[in-house]
Amino acid sequence: MSEESLQSLIETATDARLQSVAPFSRFLVGAAVRTENGKVYTGCNVESASYGLTVCAERVAIWKALSEGERQFTELAVVADTESLTPPCGTCRQIIWEFAKHATVVLANLRGLRETVSVKDLLPRAFDARFLKELAGQK
Ligand code: THU
Repeated sequence: MSEESLQSLIETATDARLQSVAPFSRFLVGAAVRTENGKVYTGCNVESASYGLTVCAERVAIWKALSEGERQFTELAVVADTESLTPPCGTCRQIIWEFAKHATVVLANLRGLRETVSVKDLLPRAFDARFLKELAGQK
């Protein structure tokens, strides 16, 4: 992953952030996920008046990509306007683990701070489909 491609993914996520529908929290988040073929899908958080139905930027980006048939991801950028970098929430970590396990996750803010982290570091000892197969008789 080149410095240039990382920076361009952050910029794409930064632009996507401006599409956020966050009238309740006013906490705008943008995401961009790159596929193995270099295609980029963006997402922003979308809030519901029934707060619990809110969807985070990361999942919107991943749902968009999956629904277009993409299955392999190399990088995921997450951008928010916080002094310390905003990491994906627990729900998103689970989804990232299941669908973008091999992606490098880059967190960034609007002031140029950024950090890359692996999915395994975000969600150690994750639950996934492997455990479902461990049910008696399904091995
Ligand atoms: N949010 C995201 O979109 N991604 C994150 O990584 C953290 C939180 C959103 C959900 C909600 O719309 C707002 O930020 C405040 O929690």
